[in-house]
Amino acid sequence: MPRSLQQSNLHHQKALGKLPLGVSSNFRYWGENKTIYVDHARGSRLWDIDGNEYVDYRLGYGPGILGYADPRVDEAARKGMEVGGVFALSTKLEFDVAERISNMVPAAELVRFSNSGTEAVMAALRLARAHTGKDSHIIVEGGYHGMFDSVLWYADIDEWEPGMDDPPIEAEGEGIPSLIKKLTHFTPLNDSNYLEDLLKRHHQDIGAFLIEPIMGNSCSITANPEYVHAARELCDKYNVVMIVDEVKTGFRVARGGVQELMGFKADLCTFAKALGNGYPISAVAGREDIMRQIGDGVMHGGTYTCHSVTLAAAAKTLEILDETDALETIADYGSALQAGIHEILAARGIPHSFVGHPSMGGLIFDDPPPDNYRAWSSSDYSFYDKMAPELHDRGVLCEPDSREPLFISEAHAKDNSLAHTLRAFEQSVDVTLEKRAAKSKAKTRKSA
Ligand SMILES: Cc1ncc(COP(=O)(O)O)c(C=O)c1O
Repeated sequence: MPRSLQQSNLHHQKALGKLPLGVSSNFRYWGENKTIYVDHARGSRLWDIDGNEYVDYRLGYGPGILGYADPRVDEAARKGMEVGGVFALSTKLEFDVAERISNMVPAAELVRFSNSGTEAVMAALRLARAHTGKDSHIIVEGGYHGMFDSVLWYADIDEWEPGMDDPPIEAEGEGIPSLIKKLTHFTPLNDSNYLEDLLKRHHQDIGAFLIEPIMGNSCSITANPEYVHAARELCDKYNVVMIVDEVKTGFRVARGGVQELMGFKADLCTFAKALGNGYPISAVAGREDIMRQIGDGVMHGGTYTCHSVTLAAAAKTLEILDETDALETIADYGSALQAGIHEILAARGIPHSFVGHPSMGGLIFDDPPPDNYRAWSSSDYSFYDKMAPELHDRGVLCEPDSREPLFISEAHAKDNSLAHTLRAFEQSVDVTLEKRAAKSKAKTRKSA
């Protein structure tokens, strides 16, 4: 029985009158009669304005690492409010949070804060250009790095088939200057020969290699540690700054992020999401010689950087992630979720695999899993796309687009959300299979 979205639909019509698409970020628009408006959220649960309750595996694209409205973090944020807001001056707490980050992530020798992942990646690219004197950068195919022109380009897999040359590179929409395309190179993940070839040909222009080793916007397709190490060496060889975008993986997949998991050090790295448990804060961090260019020619800053509320929330969030077993709890829940899903799919003979880290695992309808974005295109992702609305109807909120992983918070474990999730998953798989079978029967009848 589909849930009612009557109130959300009514509100959507009203919101369209004042807000483009009726929302404040394009990704929040899920289509006519499908766009959900939130009433409130607590722990691992979210309620929409129709009163539908969901176990949420989106967590706002990852920030809610401890769960929504975590009382420990919110209490700290309330104390931060008493500090007064923003002053166009710094507070002492910035040092403490920066020091904590450096202790958790060895590559983060120096730290600068901003408000969003986008701003952190923008700053990292600017630092790389300043450090190398080279304006171009490499993006890994399938990578998403924020809402600014330099990274709003993508490898168009829909226009590509195995055996063809490279996929065409397109802008993510209109209004992005085509001039910038000239500064952007692409490389498939896990192909160090391709990367080396690209660098051999263009290293005079390339100042940065931007990589998210667990691709949180492409199903968590994951770099092999050998590839990451080879890329590290190539960056050193060709004087290219290696920027590891840990906006999603940072303080989530390990205390030291993906760099700890894979045993390497970035030149620069970027953090956001889990850093503030949903309060808007981000950081660019890295090698002292590169970071010291801020203040020696490189501009960085912003009016709202290190608001006293967000900073206090980040200090508390990191303290919890660093000093308690929250990350282990999250990974254990993620592993149990994957084991449960595997049992359901295996019993029905559906090929599948998991990639990434259990705290942000990608479910792929293919086995073995793809090792780059090109290979993802031949997986049966339409099964996921069909199943997602069934999950929503049964109180499990996942991204409608299969390229987003399942994000886990500490609250999923505390709320005992697993049994409900797996029950909903099993029913959703069966309904999706039934609908598929009915559709192919109808097709056969039509063509007979
Ligand atoms: C890897 C990565 N980098 C950068 C960003 C941009 O962050 P924000 O949306 O906070 O600007 C995102 C957002 O999802 C991301 O996943």
